[in-house]
Amino acid sequence: MQTLVLKPDAQALEQAAALLRAGELVGMPTETVYGLAGNGLDGQAALKIFEAKQRPADNPLIEHIAHMDQIKTLIRGELPPQAQMLAQAFWPGPLTMILPKSDRVPREVSAGLDTVAIRMPSHPVARALIEQSGLPLAAPSANRSGRPSPTRASHVLEDMEGRIPLILDGGPCEVGLESTVVELSGATVRVLRPGGVTPEMIEQVLGGVWVDESVLKPLQPGQVVRSPGMKYRHYAPRGNLTIVKGAPERVAERIAQLYDQATAQGERAAILCMKQNEARYGARQIHALGQRPGLDSVASDLFDALRLMDEQGVSRIFAEAVDAHGLGLAIMNRMGRAAAFHVLDADKGE
Ligand code: TXA
Ligand code: MG
Repeated sequence: MQTLVLKPDAQALEQAAALLRAGELVGMPTETVYGLAGNGLDGQAALKIFEAKQRPADNPLIEHIAHMDQIKTLIRGELPPQAQMLAQAFWPGPLTMILPKSDRVPREVSAGLDTVAIRMPSHPVARALIEQSGLPLAAPSANRSGRPSPTRASHVLEDMEGRIPLILDGGPCEVGLESTVVELSGATVRVLRPGGVTPEMIEQVLGGVWVDESVLKPLQPGQVVRSPGMKYRHYAPRGNLTIVKGAPERVAERIAQLYDQATAQGERAAILCMKQNEARYGARQIHALGQRPGLDSVASDLFDALRLMDEQGVSRIFAEAVDAHGLGLAIMNRMGRAAAFHVLDADKGE
């Protein structure tokens, strides 16, 4: 199959909507990461998504909607008050809610669970595709399983060339990390995956929120997971990744030392650092995150940097930790998982 990459003009959008109605898949930009979209009411389309991504069959997909009316066909019963408040505050945007599912959601989409994940994206191309196809769109991140989520159309092409007919190129994704996943089906509201909508933001709306303990820790043997996605190591870079936390000058000193040791042993090393710290590393090979001040652009640069290091054959990566608050929690969750949560504390001499 030939994979077209098109700018999302009116004609390309019409072509994409027609493909979706015909049960085919389309790579679509969203504000978080690119999605691999298919008809969210068609179990066969969902199976194609699993096949193209080589995704484990027990990991459910997110349904994407453009209007609150669409939610009625996807959930069982009324929208709980807390979900209404979150939708009002954060939709359209990078928040996914887990709710009891209706019979209209194919079991292939929910991977046999009796709940469904729903998100209303804010990206105009994603919204146009939902509207023009007249469908809720099931869409996981458009990477092959085990690769970083795609934040540019070129990343989708890398992973999906020959597997899907069309990718819409909407430019780089603004958030750059996958949406916040919140479970609302139980008694408490719980963040299962941190993202652009932070626990602090949710707390302001609801007055309280739980963050699942597995967000910054490896799963313990036998631990029951609340979201199938937590089971999978997700992305593991080809290079072995070590995170170093602590006071910035100590972190830089320790990373430089580890880098020099690795290089002396013949490893191809690279440093993942914040832009403002790049001068601390002299001539060593670095990937600076955060071209603009603040964590937003650290988040939006992260997956691209990880893909680049894989391409360059980097075998040892040393990364500066960020503070695990606000958006920093989502960044540390993704980096931590890529590092199998291997974190050294420079302040403790580790
Ligand atoms: O930002 C995003 O959420 C992107 C864009 C494309 O919207 N999508 C995305 O999808 O990241 P995916 O499939 O890569 O991640 C969905 C996560 C997985 O960890 C999955 O296990 C979890 O949501 N999930 C989906 N349905 C669930 C359910 N019913 N209960 C618990 N977790 C669920
Ligand atoms: Mg994914």
